[in-house]
Amino acid sequence: MKAQMKNLNLLLLLLLFSLHLTSVLSWKKDEFRNCNQTPFCKRARSRKPGYSSLLATDVTISDGDLVAKLLPKDLNDQINPLILSISAYQDGILRLRIDEDPSSDPPPPKKRFQVPDVIVPEFDNKKLWLQTLSTETFHGDASPSSVAYLSDAYEAVLRHDPFEVYVRDKSNGNRVISLNSHGLFDFEQLRAKKTKNEQQNEGDHHQDQDQNQDQDQDEAHDQAQDHNHDHDQNEDDWAETFRGHTDKRPYGPQSISFDVSFYGADFVYGIPERASSFALKPTRGPGLEDHSEPYRLFNLDVFEYIHDAPFGLYGSIPFMISHGKSYGTSGFFWLNAAEMQIDVLSAGWDADSGISLPSDRTRIDTFWMSEAGIVDTFFFVGPGPKDVVRQYTSVTGTPAMPQHFATAYHQCRWNYRDEEDVDQVDSKFDENDIPYDVLWLDIEHTDGKRYFSWDRVLFPHPEEMQNKLAAKGRHMVTIVDPHIKRDDSYFLHKEATQKGYYVKDANGNDFDGWCWPGSSSYPDTLNPVIRSWWADKFSYDNYVGSTPSLYIWNDMNEPSVFNGPELTMPRDSLHYGGVEHRELHNAYGYYFHMATADGLLKRGNGNDRPFVLSRAIFAGSQRHGAIWTGDNSAEWDHLRVSVPMILTLGLTGISFSGADVGGFFGNPEPELLVRWYQVGAFYPFFRAHAHHDTKRREPWLFGERNTELIRDAIHVRYMLLPYFYTLFREANTSGVPVVRPLWMEFPSEEATFNNDEAFMVGNSILVQGIYTEVQL
Ligand code: GLC
Repeated sequence: MKAQMKNLNLLLLLLLFSLHLTSVLSWKKDEFRNCNQTPFCKRARSRKPGYSSLLATDVTISDGDLVAKLLPKDLNDQINPLILSISAYQDGILRLRIDEDPSSDPPPPKKRFQVPDVIVPEFDNKKLWLQTLSTETFHGDASPSSVAYLSDAYEAVLRHDPFEVYVRDKSNGNRVISLNSHGLFDFEQLRAKKTKNEQQNEGDHHQDQDQNQDQDQDEAHDQAQDHNHDHDQNEDDWAETFRGHTDKRPYGPQSISFDVSFYGADFVYGIPERASSFALKPTRGPGLEDHSEPYRLFNLDVFEYIHDAPFGLYGSIPFMISHGKSYGTSGFFWLNAAEMQIDVLSAGWDADSGISLPSDRTRIDTFWMSEAGIVDTFFFVGPGPKDVVRQYTSVTGTPAMPQHFATAYHQCRWNYRDEEDVDQVDSKFDENDIPYDVLWLDIEHTDGKRYFSWDRVLFPHPEEMQNKLAAKGRHMVTIVDPHIKRDDSYFLHKEATQKGYYVKDANGNDFDGWCWPGSSSYPDTLNPVIRSWWADKFSYDNYVGSTPSLYIWNDMNEPSVFNGPELTMPRDSLHYGGVEHRELHNAYGYYFHMATADGLLKRGNGNDRPFVLSRAIFAGSQRHGAIWTGDNSAEWDHLRVSVPMILTLGLTGISFSGADVGGFFGNPEPELLVRWYQVGAFYPFFRAHAHHDTKRREPWLFGERNTELIRDAIHVRYMLLPYFYTLFREANTSGVPVVRPLWMEFPSEEATFNNDEAFMVGNSILVQGIYTEVQL
C-alpha cells in the first residue's frame, strides 16, 4: 500500500512537472484570478464616489505628529474608530498612517501586519517634529481643515468632514496630491467569527433599529447602510475558493481601499512589475470597456507572459509617479505587502458624483485597493523627476553599489552542462575577442536540485573550475532557490525541520509544495533569526565547493509553488509572529533576497560587496542587489517592452535591472539576437540567458557578420564601463537611476512624456533601439 502511494505521488509529481513544462508554451490566463474573481477587488470596484462617511475628530499634535480619530458619521455604522497620523519629513515628504485602534472596545482580534525592514533607519532622522496646527476653513468649503507645516513651500492639510488629506503649494494654494477626495476610502476591520447564538441576537437587534429609522433617509445614509451590509457576517467572508483551492480567512475580509489624485499631471508611471507601456493607460472610466482589469500587484511566476497587459509579474512596488507640464513630478507610495489592485481612472469617470475638485489644472485620479495590512503611505512633492526618486529612496534606501565586474557582460544558459562545457564557452569568448566577466550555472549544476550542492559527476571539481575563471579575472554565479527539497538525508532540510524554520500551512504543519526538486518547503525569512541562519549557509565552510569568486542567483522566490493557487503559496499559510501569507506575500522574495545578500556580506567579513540577482522584488529590493525581468520570449515585442519595464523599475528605485538578452523562451532569428545585444548593452544589468529547450546561441554561432555585430555591441559596453560605474555610484548616493526616461533629463519636453522606445543612459547618452526587422 505504502509503495503504491509512493508511486502515485511520483506520477502526480511527473504530471505536474510536465504540466509546468507544457505551460511554458503559452500564457494560461485562466490560472490567474481577475478582479471579479478576487472578492476584495470586486467589492471595492463596485463602490461609488462619496461612499465613505468618515470624519476626522479629536485632531491634535502628539509626539510631533498630527493625530486624529476617524469616526463614522452615522453611528449605526458598526465600525470602531480608526487612528490617523500625519508626519512630516525633510524634503517635502508626508507620511499618512491609518490603523485600527488597539484600545477600542472590543479590541481588534490581532495586530495588523506592518511591513518591517523596508524603511531605512536613517529615515527617522529626517522627521520634522510638528509643533503647531492651525484650523482654517478654505474659501467655499463647508468643513474646517487642520493645516500643518510640511516644508517652506508646502503644507499638509487634513479636511475634517468628510475626511480628506492633501498636500498643497503654499504660494498659490494649488493641490499636489490628495487622498479620499472622492470619498472612496474603506477599511474592513478584523473580526473573530461569531457563534450561531451571537449572530441570532445581533439579527434581532438590527431589526429593532430598522423599525426606528426615519423614512426620508438621505443618499449618504443609504450608502452608510450599504457599508453595514458589506461588513455583515457572511459565510463567504471566512474562506475563498479559486480553481479548487480554498483559503481560510480566520479574521474575515480585511481589505483597504481609497482614491488618490495627482494634480497638474499629464501621465502616471510606476507600480511595477508588468510588461506594459511606460505611461500607464487608464483602466476604468469613459471610453473603456467594463471588463478592463486594474493593474495588479501580486508576485507570481507567470510563464510566457504577454506584452501590453495589466497583470502583475514577479515583483511588486506600490509606488506611482506622476509627471505633467503644469506641476512637474510628484509621487505616492503605499508600504503594504498584500495583494494590491490599482485603477487609473480616465477623465470624466466621476462625472455623476456631484463631487467638485479644483478644475483649473489637469488631474489624474487613481483608485488603490489592497487585501490586508494598514494604510502606511508617503506623498512626495518633487517637484522635479530627480527630486521624487531622491525622496522615495530616502525612505526605502538607495541602490547598493555593485562591484565593477557585475556591471559588465554576463553569459548564462539553462544549463552549461558540465565542467568541459564551461571551459569551452570560456575559451571561445577569448578566441572570438568578445569580453565577458561572469559565467552562470542554473539548477542542473546541483545534486538533484539540492541547493548548496554540486552534481559530482558533471561538476567534480567546482573550486578548480572557479579558480580557473578567477585566474582570468572572471567570476561565476550559481543559483540558490528558496524551495528546499524535503529529503531527510539533505542537511538543509534536516536542519530547517528540526529548528522549525519553515513557513507553516494553515494547520501549523511545515508547508509542503511542489517546485523543481519535487516536494519542497520554504524558509520563513520574515524572521530575522531565520535570515541569519540562512545567511550563514553561504560561508565557505557551509557552502562546500564555493570560492571567493562565486556569487548568487535567487530565483522562484515569489514564491513559485507549482501546485499552489495561482502557482504560489496559499494565502492562509502562516509566518513568524502569526502573520498570514496574504499579508506579506509580495515581500516574501524581498526577505529571501535580503538574507542571501547578508550571507555574502558575512562570508566576506563585510569586505566584499555582494552580488545577488533576484526575480521577486518589493520596495527596497534595490539595497540587496540586481533584478531581471524573468521569462521573456525571443520575440520583437519582448525586446521592445523590455525598455519600458526597465525604465519603470529605475523610476521606482531599482536601478540595477535587465531583461534576458535574446529572450528566454524560443529561438531568436539572428537579426533579433543582434538587435537585442545592441539594446541590451545599455541595460544596467547585461546578461544573455536561454531556456534549456532552445538551441545554443553563444555570440559566435551565427556567422561572421553577426558575431562581429554582437562583438561590437559588447565592446561598446566595455568601452563605457567607467561611465556606467560612475552612474551606479550616482544611483547609490542619490537614487537617480542609471537609465532614465527622456523626461527625467528634459522635464518640460512634452513629446518625451510617453516615449517608450528611447531612453537616456545618465545625462549624456540617448539610446534608440531598433525593434523591427530591417534586414541587417
Ligand atoms: C525560471 C527562471 C529562469 C531559469 C529557470 C530554471 O524559469 O526564470 O531564468 O533558467 O527557472 O532555473
